[in-house]
Amino acid sequence: VIDAGDRSRPLRVIHRELFERDESLAVAVFGAGQVGSALLDELAARQTAWQATGAAVKVVAIANSRRAVFRPEGLSLVKWRRTLGASDRPSDPCWIADAIKELAPSRAAVVDCTAGLDIVEAYERFVLAGCHIVTPNKRAGVLPWSRVRHLRASLAAERRLFLDSTTVGAGLPVLAAIRDLTAGGGTIRKIEGILSGTLGYLFSSFDGGVPFSALVRKACEAGLTEPDPREDLAGDDVRRKLLILAREAGLPLELDDVRVESLLAADDDELRDRLCRARARGAVLRYVATVEDGAASASLQEIPRNHPLAAQDGCDNIVAITSDRHASPLVIRGPGAGASLTAKALVADLARLL
Ligand SMILES: NC(=O)c1ccc[n+]([C@@H]2O[C@H](COP(=O)([O-])OP(=O)(O)OC[C@H]3O[C@@H](n4cnc5c(N)ncnc54)[C@H](OP(=O)(O)O)[C@@H]3O)[C@@H](O)[C@H]2O)c1
Repeated sequence: VIDAGDRSRPLRVIHRELFERDESLAVAVFGAGQVGSALLDELAARQTAWQATGAAVKVVAIANSRRAVFRPEGLSLVKWRRTLGASDRPSDPCWIADAIKELAPSRAAVVDCTAGLDIVEAYERFVLAGCHIVTPNKRAGVLPWSRVRHLRASLAAERRLFLDSTTVGAGLPVLAAIRDLTAGGGTIRKIEGILSGTLGYLFSSFDGGVPFSALVRKACEAGLTEPDPREDLAGDDVRRKLLILAREAGLPLELDDVRVESLLAADDDELRDRLCRARARGAVLRYVATVEDGAASASLQEIPRNHPLAAQDGCDNIVAITSDRHASPLVIRGPGAGASLTAKALVADLARLL
């Protein structure tokens, strides 16, 4: 039964299926900052290779916080910056969701490369418009658990996927490893990780020679921290990643349940003393996130030198997953941030939808 007011869309779907079948994946990209721009450039680079295999991605919409463009036939990925810059259409995710619904492509995805909640609030509308959701944005993964369940139910009802592998560890297969373990009937006993590239860098470089606060200033000048390093030191980003990991491991926790030690008030002398004490015991000092015994927390800890996490160096992320499937922890280590790496991982997520 079709609503009288909704007659044109089904007719267009039937016409398209019979006479002009377009199997390309229609993609809307929200956020054209570091990750969004890298993604669009990466898609441009991949286009020819995909076309050779008969697969195609058509970017039908791009938006930043100020303006948006929508082209049903697909935007040029060479000229997208100029096209977006010249648009006088204000950014509005609902308008784009409705335009995709009206277009009714055979396959569609939204890639949310923003860091806020605006696009997250429209996910449901995109799902109902037929879109899969692909996102490096952690905000949806830390919504109240009841809202996450509601979103998951909508996705399941519409048979759409939520591809969030880049929210923890950027291009590293951390969530994939946890999902594969639990999908195969495994039980996760413990997850430990150094989930912040910035805090990883700070503590792997901290040798007590220069005060910790001077090291933070140097890292900030080198662009290794958020523009305001207090965001890294407060541990909020780690808190979000930790909640996403805990939920993936089967714990329906809320953001407030995750206990995180803030280093905002850390004192240079105290940190140097802690480092000396750790060294005297043959240990290293690292900011470690842990999921164990139904709880999730992150704090500065002494780790024995033979512990898997002690191998972390520079800005790398490292995660050790202990389960009933392996005699020793499964360790995943590598660069856990970077726009280019994240964009490549997003392209891999999109490739799953082709
Ligand atoms: N950078 C990384 O290495 C990395 C790694 C893993 C995950 N991530 C995640 O990826 C996301 C993007 O990070 P980023 O580094 O690319 O951030 P960014 O450079 O600050 O870019 C954010 C983009 O989002 C846009 N935006 C904000 N609100 C919007 C709205 N309501 N509608 C449409 N666009 C909106 C901004 O528009 P304006 O340009 O108009 O301000 C900007 O283009 C974040 O969630 C981040 O946590 C980043």
